[in-house]
Amino acid sequence: MQFAKRMNQFGEGIFTKLLDIKRKRLENGELVIDLSIGTPNIPPAKHIIEALCTSAADENNYIYAINDQDSLLEAVKSWYKKRYDVELDPKTEICSLLGSQEGLAHISLTIIDEGDTVLVPDPCYPVFADGPLLAGGQLYYMPQKKENDYIIQLEDIPEEVAEKAKLILVSYPNNPTTAMAPDSFYRELIEFARKHNIIVIHDNAYSELVYDERRAGSFLAFPGAKEVGVEFNSLSKTYGLAGARIGFCVGNSEVVARLKMLKSNIDYGMYLPFQKAAIAAITGSQECVEETKKAYEKRRDILCMGFKKIGWEIDKPEATMFIWTRIPYHYEKSEDFAMDMIKKAGVIVTPGSAFGPSGEGYVRLALVQDEDALKKAIQAVHKSGILNQPMPLTT
Ligand SMILES: Cc1ncc(COP(=O)(O)O)c(C=O)c1O
Repeated sequence: MQFAKRMNQFGEGIFTKLLDIKRKRLENGELVIDLSIGTPNIPPAKHIIEALCTSAADENNYIYAINDQDSLLEAVKSWYKKRYDVELDPKTEICSLLGSQEGLAHISLTIIDEGDTVLVPDPCYPVFADGPLLAGGQLYYMPQKKENDYIIQLEDIPEEVAEKAKLILVSYPNNPTTAMAPDSFYRELIEFARKHNIIVIHDNAYSELVYDERRAGSFLAFPGAKEVGVEFNSLSKTYGLAGARIGFCVGNSEVVARLKMLKSNIDYGMYLPFQKAAIAAITGSQECVEETKKAYEKRRDILCMGFKKIGWEIDKPEATMFIWTRIPYHYEKSEDFAMDMIKKAGVIVTPGSAFGPSGEGYVRLALVQDEDALKKAIQAVHKSGILNQPMPLTT
């Protein structure tokens, strides 16, 4: 059998190794607390499940959906107006996605040709790089460094790179760094995109998971944004609907039209009961969003305070469902630290290097376990001794 060379750029890497160790530990009845993958464990609100179940009980709802229902498009329009103060035309500026991951994986196929330059953050959520790579793009990494509060420095992108680039992907509140961007960043981004004729994709998956009385908005709320790009949004984390795969691409009508056209050749639309669940989520009571945010905020505080007490001063995130922090100083490689965390403490974390070269030296912990499990994780790490600086060898 012969297979496509394009697959050679995707490795299983560290995740497979971690999963193998996890499986073995579970087989041996040993402790495993998985803080690696960002799968939310907070269920959707009752009214969302009810809308889904009622629709799933209707035998007429098992046809191909093909298109987004008008009621869904209207719901997204009013959600964007109410939540972000952004006007959207339901006919031309909204496209549903089978999870925003699906859209992020496919959209590059509509924008870039083989060899085209794509600007991606480093570190970044992996599909930001994988989508363009599948389309044959050349990546140019834009570092997100602690000394710049993890904000991309657009002025550091060389003029010749900016001139060649066709697409830029950005996302704040950011996975994995957890950073939020100031308004000035979005204004500069729009200016930069206009100047160099670059399409912008802003991923807004974490706009609702923002703590300490702060609030995030939408990229599309900034003047000129819709002329240069689109925003991706997801119901996975905000409404606990990760398994239902519900996301949206909204904004520039030309970009949306091309994505819709591509998708009409790939999938037959979102399962009708999921469309109903989405409508219930974004038009119903938003109390559940507030509760979800509070739950993650509490988990964040438990983990940050707990680790501080046992000698690991970790950075407190201002947003997202993650903690992004330096590995203890006596480790050089984030992969070595992640390996020790699972082998010696049974706690699975993601090494920062899995998110790009600038992620080396960092680790990501996902707040995807309940409070008791997080307390157990802190105890297990403490007991394992891996945070302790090894004693210098004496001769
Ligand atoms: C930044 C970011 N974008 C998109 C996604 C994917 O979300 P969805 O479940 O909508 O595919 C994730 C999931 O972790 C994410 O962290």
